[in-house]
Amino acid sequence: MDETYAIEVTHLAKGYKEVPVLVDVSFTVRRGTVFALLGANGSGKTTTINILTTLIKADGGTATVGGFDVTTEPARVREVISVTGQSSAVDYILTARENLVLMGELRHVADPQGVAAALLDKFDLEDAADRRLLTFSGGMRRRLDIAMSLVGEAPIVFFDEPTTGLDPHSRNDMWETIRELAGKGTTIFLTTQYLEEADRLADQIAILHGGRVVAGGTPAELKTMVPSGLVELDFAEDNDLAAAQTALTNGHELSRVDSKLVVASDGSVADMADMFIRLNNAGLEPTRFIAKEPTLDDVFFKILGEDKEETHANSH
Ligand SMILES: Nc1ncnc2c1ncn2[C@@H]1O[C@H](COP(=O)(O)OP(=O)(O)OP(=O)(O)O)[C@@H](O)[C@H]1O
Ligand SMILES: [Mg+2]
Repeated sequence: MDETYAIEVTHLAKGYKEVPVLVDVSFTVRRGTVFALLGANGSGKTTTINILTTLIKADGGTATVGGFDVTTEPARVREVISVTGQSSAVDYILTARENLVLMGELRHVADPQGVAAALLDKFDLEDAADRRLLTFSGGMRRRLDIAMSLVGEAPIVFFDEPTTGLDPHSRNDMWETIRELAGKGTTIFLTTQYLEEADRLADQIAILHGGRVVAGGTPAELKTMVPSGLVELDFAEDNDLAAAQTALTNGHELSRVDSKLVVASDGSVADMADMFIRLNNAGLEPTRFIAKEPTLDDVFFKILGEDKEETHANSH
């Protein structure tokens, strides 16, 4: 058995009623690293997790988790993983503490009460520990979900969109938790719709689109494919926008998104100055401008050469 990889996926395929979701997906995840599967709504992230965690079967291809084949050795796979699904798996009639203790008992940890107390503390749920989950906010449930998956310290952990629905503070806490887990040597497989999140957490990123991995690599490698910054310009008149497009065309990478002009920038003063000087020389005054971080859409735009509308039309 090859000990290098915690997860190996080769030519995975899966469809529903002839509608292909995964067409040909291959990637590897090294032991003790964080891997982010990045994709838009409906791109097949949850489907991939469901196959790897043995909830559903693939139509083709192979996958091993912890060295075990998901099709022929599902029970062995389940022994080495824990999963936090996209929708909550907690029991709403029980309290947060009871849920954690129950999980501890199921996973045969030595001290379920102690483990529950430590996790309640870690996830800021102490005050609400003995309330039924029916009274919990969405963010609190999400935090408990993640806490549940840490009971028993599985060596390979799957998180399906761990920060979706969390406020910025809780999102930061979650990032911390994921980094801490990674620091302990746990292999982490997460899905996200946010480029920024993948960038901050992952050692390796794979971008899923149209049933295939369309780009992959380290965050640094992916960043060389997209501009480090973008400036969005609004104009009062369509004529002005067209004039700006002409003024900036030589020397700046441009795209038009709805009624805005998006200019790729390396974020340097020289680059920004050049942009504004050209606009000024042409007598053009944007009504508004904002600098943005590149998003998943921008990556698609660059990698696939598709426009925003097309990317969105493919997802639902
Ligand atoms: N049980 C099912 N039966 C039929 N179609 C399904 C089923 N499960 C998923 N699909 C379809 O497969 C596609 C991929 O779904 P999946 O849930 O894997 O996407 P996702 O990337 O996780 O999206 P999201 O970001 O919205 O969670 C979607 O078009 C979805 O409608
Ligand atoms: Mg999903």
